[in-house]
Amino acid sequence: MHCSDGGPANLGLFSDSDLQQPARIELLGPQSRVLRGFALPWIEALLPPLHAVLGAAPFRQMQTPGGFTMSVGLSSCGQLGWTTDRHGYRYSPIDPQSQRPWPAMPGVFRELAEAAAQAAGFPGFAPDSCLINCYRPGAKMSLHQDKNERDYTAPIVSVSLGLPATFLFGGQQRNGKTQRVPLLHGDVVVWGGVDRLRYHGVLALKDGQHPLLGRQRINLTLRQAG
Ligand code: SIN
Ligand code: FE2
Repeated sequence: MHCSDGGPANLGLFSDSDLQQPARIELLGPQSRVLRGFALPWIEALLPPLHAVLGAAPFRQMQTPGGFTMSVGLSSCGQLGWTTDRHGYRYSPIDPQSQRPWPAMPGVFRELAEAAAQAAGFPGFAPDSCLINCYRPGAKMSLHQDKNERDYTAPIVSVSLGLPATFLFGGQQRNGKTQRVPLLHGDVVVWGGVDRLRYHGVLALKDGQHPLLGRQRINLTLRQAG
């Protein structure tokens, strides 16, 4: 998959295609990284199982404990799925809509997440949950921490697909300063360690048309939840 490093024909400035381009890594914090284009080589293998998962567990708009309907459509795969309703936020092995277990996590999801975590300095990542978020134009995710997981030793791996979005990456407190990070199709954000509980969110999605995914952004959030 990778072109040979340091060969005379390739000084590392250019490569034949996206598939051979080493990911550009951007630092958001001491233990948070944006891996630009990291997921691009996986997209072709990832979309068919994603469609199968969504066939078995379609996107639905969940209620927050405060009684609001989320603008983002949610689904999950893996042993545990994140859900919310009037009773609170939690992980469940059962899809509350179908009353059946969530679809199994496709192997390619796990492989991509493990490779991304490793590239960001977190070897041995073994996700048991993948939250699938669907943003239509106007949908947004307000600032929050990911803290329903059993412990915080594993990082969060977040894969962007489809339309571009602006990711907000804040601090340890809700009212702290936030960085605005543009995320494109194929980008992967990884945060863990001292950055594991940093606030984050997504600004309202701008309208557009993506060649592969159409008028939406899909985000995969892979976690070790249980
Ligand atoms: C999330 O924090 O659940 C979603 C982040 C994203 O969509 O990029
Ligand atoms: Fe989150």
